[in-house]
Amino acid sequence: MTRVAIVTGGAGGFGTAIAERLRAERMEVVAADLPELDVTDPDSVDRLVSGVVERHGRVDALVNNAGIAGPTAPVDAYPLDEWRRVLDVDLTGTFLCMRRCIPGMRERGYGRIVNIASIAGKEGNPDMSAYSAAKAGVIALTKSAGKELARTGILVNCIVPAVFDTGLTDAASDEERERFAARVPMGRMGRPAELAELVSWLTSDRCSFSTGAAFDLSGGRAVY
Ligand SMILES: NC(=O)c1ccc[n+]([C@@H]2O[C@H](COP(=O)([O-])OP(=O)(O)OC[C@H]3O[C@@H](n4cnc5c(N)ncnc54)[C@H](O)[C@@H]3O)[C@@H](O)[C@H]2O)c1
Repeated sequence: MTRVAIVTGGAGGFGTAIAERLRAERMEVVAADLPELDVTDPDSVDRLVSGVVERHGRVDALVNNAGIAGPTAPVDAYPLDEWRRVLDVDLTGTFLCMRRCIPGMRERGYGRIVNIASIAGKEGNPDMSAYSAAKAGVIALTKSAGKELARTGILVNCIVPAVFDTGLTDAASDEERERFAARVPMGRMGRPAELAELVSWLTSDRCSFSTGAAFDLSGGRAVY
């Protein structure tokens, strides 16, 4: 049977690599991004998922990959509207997509949900409090839902990447990129294809005894 997957943030660095990898696995992939999908808007999420179900019959796998880093600023100077925006896209967006897809998955007794968190959610990046808090929330949401759904056939896991070479890091200067790489024991940034490889396993039937788990992809920079 051809499995059907939704990848949010599907036009970005990770999203493109994930969609390509899952298509190579012969999955039917809907890579959705702004403007047709806004993960912060429940109606937009509903329209997207309903459309996929209409066209393909169901959603087997959901990859919550849409995300923004937000501005950098100390906690006491962090603009409230930006704080809300980052939490809204990164954490609430993940929740809204999960909430919309879970009932159908539960009905069919099968689902694979993969949330893209960040090592910032474990370590806490200075001047990135909103992003770090949102990604810590994504890890906790994954653990919570993983336990809740453990006996339903729906597996919920998250990936915790360190620094990867994608759109999110494009804005960084050469000096910053060198600094990022220096913090990784392997001495380099990750490649989107390396993340897509793990997504491929987590969205497949080959993954069968992992749920509520957080998988580091950090070139050795694991913290806990
Ligand atoms: N690149 C890294 O080093 C890195 C490290 C850790 C975690 N991550 C996470 O990986 C995910 C993908 O990052 P990326 O590096 O590919 O970034 P990216 O900027 O290339 O892609 C993110 C995509 O999300 C989309 N998006 C933003 N707001 C959205 C919304 N409201 N609704 C739908 N889509 C929206 C953007 O349009 C963009 O295409 C993000 O969640 C990011 O936090 C990235």
